[in-house]
Parts: sequence; structure tokens; C-alpha cells
Amino acid sequence: NLDTDDDLDLAPATPTRRTSKLAIVGAGAVGSTMAYAALMRGAARSVALFDINTAKVEAEVLDLGHGIQFMPMAEIVGSDDISVCADADVVVFTAGAKQKPGQTRLDLAGATISLVSKVLPSVVQVAPNATYVMVTNPVDVVTYAALKISGLPSNQLFGSGTVLDSSRLRYLIAQRTGVAVQNVHAYVAGEHGDSELPLWSSASIGGVPLLEWGGIGVRGPLTSEVRDEIAHEVVESAYRIIAGKGATNYAIALAGSRIIEAILKDEDRVLPVSSLLNDYHGISDVCLSVPTLVGRRGVTDQLEVPMSVDELAGMRKSADAVRAVARQFGY
Ligand code: LAC
Repeated sequence: NLDTDDDLDLAPATPTRRTSKLAIVGAGAVGSTMAYAALMRGAARSVALFDINTAKVEAEVLDLGHGIQFMPMAEIVGSDDISVCADADVVVFTAGAKQKPGQTRLDLAGATISLVSKVLPSVVQVAPNATYVMVTNPVDVVTYAALKISGLPSNQLFGSGTVLDSSRLRYLIAQRTGVAVQNVHAYVAGEHGDSELPLWSSASIGGVPLLEWGGIGVRGPLTSEVRDEIAHEVVESAYRIIAGKGATNYAIALAGSRIIEAILKDEDRVLPVSSLLNDYHGISDVCLSVPTLVGRRGVTDQLEVPMSVDELAGMRKSADAVRAVARQFGY
């Protein structure tokens, strides 16, 4: 209680602890939607967008900034100068060639790796302590190449991997079974691409092993035919969306925001991100997605979930497909 009418004698303002900063490289459909998703979810207090297209990045920042009143408080900045990424806590790399209708993700490897080798070193220079999340496709090959290009330790740089594919898988299982998607626990592992594989043997629905799921009401069990249909639909999802609207952006942006939150809130959340495997079920020297702990220090533990003989064979096939493309481009 104040006993004089002097002005409040406030201590000099101490600099507030710098808040969390997310930098997104690439302001295209994925990068700008990811900025929107992260802002809407309050994932970061400060969001910086970088793109070489000045007009585009400035317009995205204006458009996002005009909506901040409706979001958790945040700051959004953007520039064609890489210094806008300075001192970021998380950097998400989305810049790269767009998948054309019918094109596989692996087809993009050459164009994308040369872009990453041009841009990534200058980002690391201004944000050496950031955790790096590669989203650009083919994300597993790009993640492996980015580790070599950046020289960063393999916990500090990883890829968004099959977080999105696993979300697609859970969505389809939820639709088939009538159970809320939040109660479906299933992972897609391997390549974020055509050789990915659902880990049916470790999946569960509300605590019931998926392979023992007997169905509810008129919805029957998930027979092997149904599971094959679901697996096919997961792999085909991106192709269908790209054919219809030219690119995917919403779900990948939300998947990216989930990863960003796991890092900035130090959640140690299990996410199927793509990281460097070293004797994971005997698989090494390739970046693939497996259930992994994600927190402030990036990826810390890859969970060696039990796999069936078929799933192990699928993982090795996926590793060969990704490794072959990485080697083709000298990584
Ligand atoms: C997709 C892109 C992000 O699967 O690869 O939608």
C-alpha cells in the first residue's frame, strides 16, 4: 500500500525474457498456411516468414497481421532478407519445388536438394541454436541431405515425416469405425511417400488392439481387405488433393504446428517424424519416420515399437527406396 502520493516508483523495466520465435522458410501455400495454423494455435509468440518473393512475403504478413486481433497475441514479421530468421527457436523449412499432378515426391529430389544447399547454410548462420524441421519434399531425402549440408547434430534437425500420413490413417480408421479420431492410435512409418506403411500390429482403438477390433453396431471389423483399402487411400491422398486443388496445405500445416508446439512447449510428445536411424530394428544411415520423442532439444528417442515380419520388411523396403535417391544425389 502506498502511503505517499508520489508517482509509483517503478523499478527500471528489466528486459523481458525473449519469447518463443518460429521462423518459416518459404511463404508458399504450405509455409503461409503453417504460419496461420501456428498463430491460431498460439504455438509461438513471434512468427517470421522468409521468402525470396518480396511481394508475396509482405502480402502474407499483412494479411496475417490483420487477423491478429482474433488470435492469441503474437507478432508476425516477414522479409526477403534471411536475417528475419535471426535467433529463431524453431525453423520450419517449406521452400521447394511443388509436386505436379501425378509426380511422386521422390521426383522432386534434385530441384529441392540444390535449393536446400543454397538456402539452409545462411539460415543456420543466423539461427544456429534453432531446432530445424524440414517439410519440403521428398522430406526424408531432404532431411538426410540437410543434416549433411548443415552439419547439425541429428537431434537438432529432422523432418515432418509421416505425422500427416498418420493423421490421414487415423481419420480413415475413425470414419470406418465410428470412433472419435482422438481415440485412434495408429502410426504410418517409413517414407513420407509411396513406400510408407501403416503399423497395424501396434495400432489400437480406445485401448482395443486394432487387429482385434470386432466393430460397433453396423460397422464391422477392420478386415485385411478394409485395412488394405485404408492404406491405399492414405498413400493416394496427396495425389487426389493435388489433382483437385494444385497442392495440399491445411493438414500439413496443422501437422507442422503440432510439431512446433511439441518443441516450443518441450512436450516430449511421441510423433512419427523423420530422423536419422541408427540400428533401428537393424536399419541405419537413412532418415525415416518412426514414433519418436519430440521436445525442446528436438528428437531425443526413437521408440522401437514391436513390428510384424511384414512391417519390418516394409520398413527395409522403404529404407532402400529413400537411401537410393539420397545416394543418386551424392548423399
Ligand atoms: C502431402 C505433402 C505434404 O502429403 O507431401 O500432403
